[in-house]
Amino acid sequence: TFVVTQACIKCKYTDCVSVCPVDCFHEGPNFLVINPEGCIDCGVCIPECPASAIYEEGNVPADQQEFIEINARLAQLWPVIDSAKEPLEDADAWVDITNKKQYLEE
Ligand code: SF4
Ligand code: F3S
Repeated sequence: TFVVTQACIKCKYTDCVSVCPVDCFHEGPNFLVINPEGCIDCGVCIPECPASAIYEEGNVPADQQEFIEINARLAQLWPVIDSAKEPLEDADAWVDITNKKQYLEE
């Protein structure tokens, strides 16, 4: 399965949503997650993300392993998002900032 990591937080560009063939992205206040039970591992979302936030599960960076569990858990709580929308207001200011986990709103 594929996993959204911290780079998405406070950006939420949603380019990924428009290409997913199975609508397995779920939307929270300032982050998206992928439902591991829906993802068909097509990989088309990876190059679409301006923040390079999406990884195949086996390639998630060592310091972001917790996002595997975060995606699985929050996908059960958040609604599906099936079409792109405007990024968050300050997305371009946050895109290059690392260690954004502390800002994740559930
Ligand atoms: Fe959707 Fe494919 Fe990305 Fe999985 S890898 S989230 S199926 S676009
Ligand atoms: Fe997030 Fe990238 Fe999608 S910033 S909303 S994973 S395009």
